[in-house]
Amino acid sequence: SPKSERWALATVPEPTPESGLDNCRRCSLWRNATQAVPGEGPMGARLMLVGEQPGDQEDLAGRAFVGPAGQLLDRAMVDAGITRADCYVTNAVKHFKFTPRGKRRIHQKPDVSEVEHCRWWLTEEVAAVRPRLIVALGATAGRALLRRDVAVQRERGAILRLGGGGSLLLTVHPSYLLRLPDPAAKVLEYDKFVADLRTATTYAM
Ligand code: URA
Repeated sequence: SPKSERWALATVPEPTPESGLDNCRRCSLWRNATQAVPGEGPMGARLMLVGEQPGDQEDLAGRAFVGPAGQLLDRAMVDAGITRADCYVTNAVKHFKFTPRGKRRIHQKPDVSEVEHCRWWLTEEVAAVRPRLIVALGATAGRALLRRDVAVQRERGAILRLGGGGSLLLTVHPSYLLRLPDPAAKVLEYDKFVADLRTATTYAM
């Protein structure tokens, strides 16, 4: 079941209050979030996809990329010929950061310190999964993995080398596509996103 493949359960043999992801206190985001959202997918997956942080729906469900951005990602992966269940999907930051506005919870970008603190988990995931290629979805994931500022539009679509010997492909975050107001631009950008995912799977398989 997907649940048994969830990384936090699969690779922390005896979770202790200190070691379990849901008990993480490395930064303060745990205070307002419902739960930590672990990565999901098989160990040994050839492709690993990294987003920014769980959104509203992910925070409630406890699963990465199940909300609107996740649905767009699902569609793009299908169009790129990628089976999501074969991939390991996670986020740079594992708790949802938001500000309440009435009944809604408005997504807030994690700051550098939160990304740095949460990198501990991401590094563990990369070491456990050992993917052939990591796809960084957006600037936050790119920065978390490359440990430097990234220019998504300039650096996207190429195979970049990671310090530890791995490879990374940077592309846009699916939420960027959702936010584009112009329908024509949306279609164009969606096609570019699918093309990046195709480059990734060609490299990884
Ligand atoms: N956006 C992300 O970056 N990750 C998710 O899991 C959902 C939305």
